[in-house]
Amino acid sequence: MKPLLAAAALALSGLTALPATADVTFEDVKISAGQTLFEAECRRCHATNPTDASYGPPLEDVVGRAAGTHADYDYSDALAASGIVWTPAALRAWMEDNDGFMPGTKMRHVGIEDRTVQDFILAYLQSLTAGTAAQ
Ligand code: HEC
Repeated sequence: MKPLLAAAALALSGLTALPATADVTFEDVKISAGQTLFEAECRRCHATNPTDASYGPPLEDVVGRAAGTHADYDYSDALAASGIVWTPAALRAWMEDNDGFMPGTKMRHVGIEDRTVQDFILAYLQSLTAGTAAQ
């Protein structure tokens, strides 16, 4: 099993910790798996809460945000001048091949090609809105 899928399986097997009722939606499952994957692949450089120290820009509210616009973060020229918005499609392309998608970025290459893994991480990123990120 690939490490990422193993991580996802681990997250899914952790579901017994959630209430075993119809209250648990498929979305909850995706967010929970996405959090595990994010911790493994992204967290060492990205805080989810803007008050935490972070090497990369905080990713709270990143879905739908204009790229390179987090106040107080020193972006590369490539990202600051990109003019793109972080739609789900842009975030998929970024996770798959960030330096190919945006030559000149200072984010080290992460090559997440598995669409399911991308889906889970996206679901988690979408859950990171102001006020929930610290949870
Ligand atoms: C090795 C450190 C590192 C890892 C691992 C990493 N990033 Fe990044 N990330 C950065 C840096 C540095 C930047 C700023 C890039 C720039 O300015 O060119 C960045 C920028 C971003 C941005 C743009 C944010 C904005 O405000 O425009 C997104 C989105 C992002 N990363 C998502 C992710 C995701 C999702 C993962 C995990 C799959 C991840 N990153 C893994 C270091 C990292």
